[in-house]
Amino acid sequence: MTNSASPIIELDFTDWSDPARFPEKQDEWTTAVENGQVLYFPHLAFQLSPPEQALLRENVLKSGARNVSLGGDGVLKHAAGAPDEQKLLAGMIGRYRQSVLTLIDGLFPHYRGALRVAPTSFRPKEVETRVQSVHADDRRMHFDAFATRPTYGERILRIFTNLNPSGVPRVWRVGEPFETVAKRYLPQIPPYSPIKAKLLNAVGGTKSVRSEYDHLMFNLHNLMKEDEQYQQNGTVATQPFPPGCVWVCYADGAAHGVASGQYMMEQTLHLAPGRELHPESSPLAILTRLVGHPLAGAGSAQTL
Ligand SMILES: [Fe+2]
Repeated sequence: MTNSASPIIELDFTDWSDPARFPEKQDEWTTAVENGQVLYFPHLAFQLSPPEQALLRENVLKSGARNVSLGGDGVLKHAAGAPDEQKLLAGMIGRYRQSVLTLIDGLFPHYRGALRVAPTSFRPKEVETRVQSVHADDRRMHFDAFATRPTYGERILRIFTNLNPSGVPRVWRVGEPFETVAKRYLPQIPPYSPIKAKLLNAVGGTKSVRSEYDHLMFNLHNLMKEDEQYQQNGTVATQPFPPGCVWVCYADGAAHGVASGQYMMEQTLHLAPGRELHPESSPLAILTRLVGHPLAGAGSAQTL
């Protein structure tokens, strides 16, 4: 069922509640995802009703927006269309969120009480044709890092499903372990300046003061995307995710690039810093070890 040598681990469940029936496997799955592996569920379909199938078109999205999102408060953002269609869309996205919460609770019970649920997103745009800057281009291999929203070491666990109605896979490239990539780019990252971080925040460049951890992650993300040689040679595995499948990874710990695809739903869950089963494998712990000092401000916005 699993292959520890591959960055992709295939799990053959057919129901979102299945993992809860295998408590003896949960630590193994948690360890794998924390090590940067991608858990792939080829047969965990998210079923759409016929009216929902009709939502699989680009113009459900407001022009200029990248995805439709549903907040925990039930508010739908960036959707075009009539109120009844928006209600249908919100119902579909909300049902996905519930399915994800069931799946994650069964896979990673260690995280109970430590996860924060981010808005759920529906991405109807085709990856290949989106025009964007190098740093915004998620076709390029990267670790997720937010330019404007510091995380202070909070993890970015992401759960995806491909909804494509025409059989088109979403193709991912997956790269080397976090530590290998971080070691390559750390010497190129300028030293962290708390004063610059405060100034950036004062002019509205960030939503809170960027910590040293976030400084490193932001620069690592950009350096990876700028490096043509790495983009050519950094792929360890190329994985097509066909319609009807689900995949789960720590997007801040698994190097990935989205080569192609269209129509996808995504749920982000944030894990509190240090609440991993193996906190020593986290990007925060690895970067702390590599730079050789505690990362200023990491773990708390208040310490800056
Ligand atoms: Fe990403």
